[in-house]
Amino acid sequence: MKNLIVYTTKYGSVEKSSKKLKEHLQGETTIINLKTENVPDIKDFDRIILGGSIYLGKVQKQLTKFACKNERLTSKKKIGLFVNSGKQNEKKDDQLKNSFPEKLYDNAVVTGLFGDEITIEKCSFLDKLALRIIKKVTISYSNIDDRAIKKFADILNNL
Ligand SMILES: Cc1cc2nc3c(=O)[nH]c(=O)nc-3n(C[C@H](O)[C@H](O)[C@H](O)COP(=O)(O)O)c2cc1C
Repeated sequence: MKNLIVYTTKYGSVEKSSKKLKEHLQGETTIINLKTENVPDIKDFDRIILGGSIYLGKVQKQLTKFACKNERLTSKKKIGLFVNSGKQNEKKDDQLKNSFPEKLYDNAVVTGLFGDEITIEKCSFLDKLALRIIKKVTISYSNIDDRAIKKFADILNNL
């Protein structure tokens, strides 16, 4: 089995989640940061996993664009979708549904919410301000959901 994880991140928590997911997945796994690396040919992979993080209710637009562009190709693959998010204002399924094209979401064999992480020192001035005002967050924390990541991998491994 060949797995491809394509992700977007602003401050690195989705990268961490992707690496943890790789540890749990059976087979050979390639991890690609969509913003900094070229994506290999999707045809060469059995499972395609897309992951991003939510900012003000939305996932990174690069990921949405990539998902739309590859919707037809990915329809023949086993698809997994996940987001890292604080889940504060949006309903669980809405965050995932709003992040990916409808067909892709419907075609996904597994979806997951992998929790969130804030490293205040890495955040831009505006993000720090938004965190303080909207979310009342002023200190770093890590809430990456290891169990959700393991469960997501188990579902894929058992298909
Ligand atoms: C400025 C800012 C806005 C955010 N907005 C949301 C949001 O609207 N909904 C949500 O669930 N999480 C929100 N989060 C939490 C992020 O999705 C979470 O920290 C995630 O782990 C970041 O992943 P990344 O480091 O890979 O970009 C926000 C975080 C920041 C810093």
